[in-house]
Amino acid sequence: MSNENGKLQLDGKEFDMPVMSGTIGPDVVDIRKFYGQSGAFTFDPGFTSTASCESQLTYIDGGEGVLLHRGYSIEELSKDSSFMEVSYLLLNGELPNTDQLNDFSYTISRHTMLHEQLATFYRGFRRDAHPMAIMCGVVGALSAFYHDSTDIADPEHRRISSHRLIAKMPTIAAMAYKYSTGQPFLYPDNDLSYTGNFLRMTFGVPAEKYEVNPVIERAMDRIFILHADHEQNASTSTVRLAGSSGANPFACIAAGIACLWGPAHGGANEAALNMLREIGTPDQIPHYIERAKDKNDPFRLMGFGHRVYKNYDPRATVMQETVREVLSELKLKDPIFEVALQLEEMALNDDYFKEKKLFPNVDFYSGIIYSAIGFPTEMFTVLFALARTVGWVAQWNEMISDPGQKIGRPRQLYTGPEARPFVPIANR
Ligand code: CMC
Repeated sequence: MSNENGKLQLDGKEFDMPVMSGTIGPDVVDIRKFYGQSGAFTFDPGFTSTASCESQLTYIDGGEGVLLHRGYSIEELSKDSSFMEVSYLLLNGELPNTDQLNDFSYTISRHTMLHEQLATFYRGFRRDAHPMAIMCGVVGALSAFYHDSTDIADPEHRRISSHRLIAKMPTIAAMAYKYSTGQPFLYPDNDLSYTGNFLRMTFGVPAEKYEVNPVIERAMDRIFILHADHEQNASTSTVRLAGSSGANPFACIAAGIACLWGPAHGGANEAALNMLREIGTPDQIPHYIERAKDKNDPFRLMGFGHRVYKNYDPRATVMQETVREVLSELKLKDPIFEVALQLEEMALNDDYFKEKKLFPNVDFYSGIIYSAIGFPTEMFTVLFALARTVGWVAQWNEMISDPGQKIGRPRQLYTGPEARPFVPIANR
């Protein structure tokens, strides 16, 4: 708490409001008592000026393009760490030593299998179901199978359900893919890394031995790190809001998956690649830039712009480097990558994008990598969900452990009719 108080004047009265300071980042004005004192609400749809919670997990400086997890920069984590290590860091607050990391990886690997009956759920979906629809359904259904870890007041239950969610998500995601192709599900192979196991369950078949390509494995692992957490974004806030009512963690993560699906959020990676394919060749770029700037055209450059970053998204930088690495390893030359590079350059030199501070975000380049590895576009947001699960469960745990936690319950500015008498149907 800083010594300064904020002051708000309303109807000639002045209200003192404490100002709170974090370790870094903007101060926040604590308005919790404002309604009680003044009888007025504050209005902030979209939460553009509102901090909904205290958190120690992730810090973003959108102006400078900085992203830190527990104080460590995303550049260093994605270069020198692994997804398992970052998961441990997010959940426990500190980087693990070798024994702690081995223990953690071992524990996660022991939760990778799904209850066998869950496999029958998949058969209830149409073969052409969007895998995100399957993910929402199957992850929500986990609460019907793992009753022994849904007492949210018990830290041990919370730990087990967090591990289950992180461990089972690759299996659930790979099964969603296998179901769409008509190939048999593959059981996890716990001799492989978290990411290697996911690649094998997705692209392997029971008839042949699957060799994990270490370059692709490392690239996917890095992409998982880039998506692991991102502060109070829409899906994380959804998980926190769902969890604030005391709902079980599986139901909360299913809610987060549903929110992530939208094209303004995690669905942007699928939309970005579809857009790049629609643009097709560099000569078409100016036409699409003009469309994106036209207020009468709903078209937006997908994978561009961000609520918080008003500078280059640091994840997009790492993602662009990873595209080069993957394309070179697979000896592919993707003309769409060339379109993406030129589109970025043209947009960054355009006054509209400069004035509005619109830069490529994490979703701009990821689709090119996924596509090169062999994922169909519908799977892109599933990969985001898989990796973000650790952030969701870490944020959910942080919220439940907070003694000051309350059910999330925003208020509103009512603009509907005032009280009026009911008119029987015969008189309307
Ligand atoms: N193309 C063209 N114009 C844009 C774009 C874009 N991609 N993004 C924002 N703008 C304009 C927008 O029209 C508005 O103009 P004006 O002030 O004249 O009305 C201004 O920039 C501010 O945009 P906003 O929609 O008010 O900003 P926001 O913070 O509410 O939205 C966003 C952020 C990410 C939803 C938006 O930039 C967008 O729709 N981008 C495309 C979708 C996308 O890439 N989403 C992934 C986000 S990063 C990963 C994730 O969170 O999942």
